[in-house]
Amino acid sequence: MKQVNENTILVIEDDSTMREGIQTVLEKEGYRVNCAADGFEGLRLFQTHPPCMVITDLKLPGKSGMHLLHEFLETSPSLPVILISAYGTIDLAVSALKSGARDFIAKPFSIDELKAKVSEILKNVPAPEVKIGAVPTFYGMVGSSPEMQQLQAQIKQVAKVDSPVLITGESGTGKELIVRAIHNESRRKEKVFLAVNCGAFTDTLLESELFGHEKGSFTGAIRQHQGIFEQADGGTILLDEIGEISPQLQVKLLRVLQHQSFQRVGGTDVISTDVRVIAATNRNLKEAIEAKQFREDLYFRLNVLPIYVPPLRERTSDIPDLIKYVMGVKCDSLGVAKPKISADAVEKLQQYSWPGNIRELENLLERVLIFSDSGVITADDIYFDESSEKVPESTGKLSEVLQDTEYRMIKEALEKSGGVKQKAAKILGIKTSTLYYKLEKYGLLEDRNRDNEIT
Ligand SMILES: Nc1ncnc2c1ncn2[C@@H]1O[C@H](COP(=O)(O)OP(=O)(O)OP(=O)(O)O)[C@@H](O)[C@H]1O
Ligand SMILES: [Mg+2]
Repeated sequence: MKQVNENTILVIEDDSTMREGIQTVLEKEGYRVNCAADGFEGLRLFQTHPPCMVITDLKLPGKSGMHLLHEFLETSPSLPVILISAYGTIDLAVSALKSGARDFIAKPFSIDELKAKVSEILKNVPAPEVKIGAVPTFYGMVGSSPEMQQLQAQIKQVAKVDSPVLITGESGTGKELIVRAIHNESRRKEKVFLAVNCGAFTDTLLESELFGHEKGSFTGAIRQHQGIFEQADGGTILLDEIGEISPQLQVKLLRVLQHQSFQRVGGTDVISTDVRVIAATNRNLKEAIEAKQFREDLYFRLNVLPIYVPPLRERTSDIPDLIKYVMGVKCDSLGVAKPKISADAVEKLQQYSWPGNIRELENLLERVLIFSDSGVITADDIYFDESSEKVPESTGKLSEVLQDTEYRMIKEALEKSGGVKQKAAKILGIKTSTLYYKLEKYGLLEDRNRDNEIT
């Protein structure tokens, strides 16, 4: 038997108005609802998606509610089952209670009655949803895990002084946000904050970005330009991706840090500057030093105050608040209603490894928001984008581009079909056997099997 879906209720009812009504009410409460119109379908859904509760009509085509009750309790003796009995079947309902049904509800019933019975029975199950809304932030940073509390304390400490800071941590962990927090918490907050991505420029351009240049100092230098060391005088600069900086520029940067002065490219004037330098990197600079790619003396100059940002997977207790916050911001900016997020969805998000950290979480939530239309986001709505790790970089060769596209289409079809291969093959317009062949080719076969077992 598969694992029980904590938040899923199975509703078996042949009257479509009644069935859809119950579904709507329960989904609004944050539950995932699976519906069946007859006993056989109900039994099938019970086996494929084991629910935490069943609500079933007594009179059903196929198998009767009474029959189903016995079969359900045989497999899951503690499963709560609520029976719906129409006028004239009350006696049957009473004998169903004796057979182990948890409760019964007589038609016609009110929404409140139904909600009350369900929540009474499921009250020991964890809260079914996360409500999107305001969460406390520290300069736009969400998180109250011990790791985040320590980070905030460090930010406040280092903001009091002017020494260089080196921030390390995986991509998307919030390094830039931390730098802004340091600037805004410091006495420099009224002055300029400027960031430069050292990995995004050629050497010549980066040098000019940092130190500026005189007119005509190199091809394209049509007028004098002030670099960030000059523009941010009195303020703070972020040297992002510091690990990407060339050996020549490392020497020049070291000199500025030592003398608080520099010269523009092609210039002779010595310009003194009062900037706070904060560097950030997701590279391991110690390894870069070993490999003679990074100067050890520069490392020590920058690493006076080190701050390490732990990856999201090491502070999963921050995830519920991050979801609330990020979803709130995204809903506002997209102008859409705020959905509810079921507990199983939150759990799924907490179990993922987040190689792209908070940036990846933001992107995923945006995608989920755009594609969901039910008002409740459940675990089934969440897919992780692992394609970037598995697809070989496209070099522009036709065969590779085609493979790339094929891979993506197969993944999409699998997602749409919930992992059911016959359905996926149909979506793609290929034979199931062909799909199996392709799944094997792309190493997707085992992954999918594993996914199916979890959900
Ligand atoms: N604690 C947090 N609370 C809310 N949002 C966060 C938090 N940390 C990061 N973010 C958001 O995640 C995204 C990535 O953050 P940021 O750009 O600061 O990461 P980074 O570590 O500089 O990444 P990279 O190494 O790729 O440059 C941003 O949109 C940022 O606002
Ligand atoms: Mg960054």
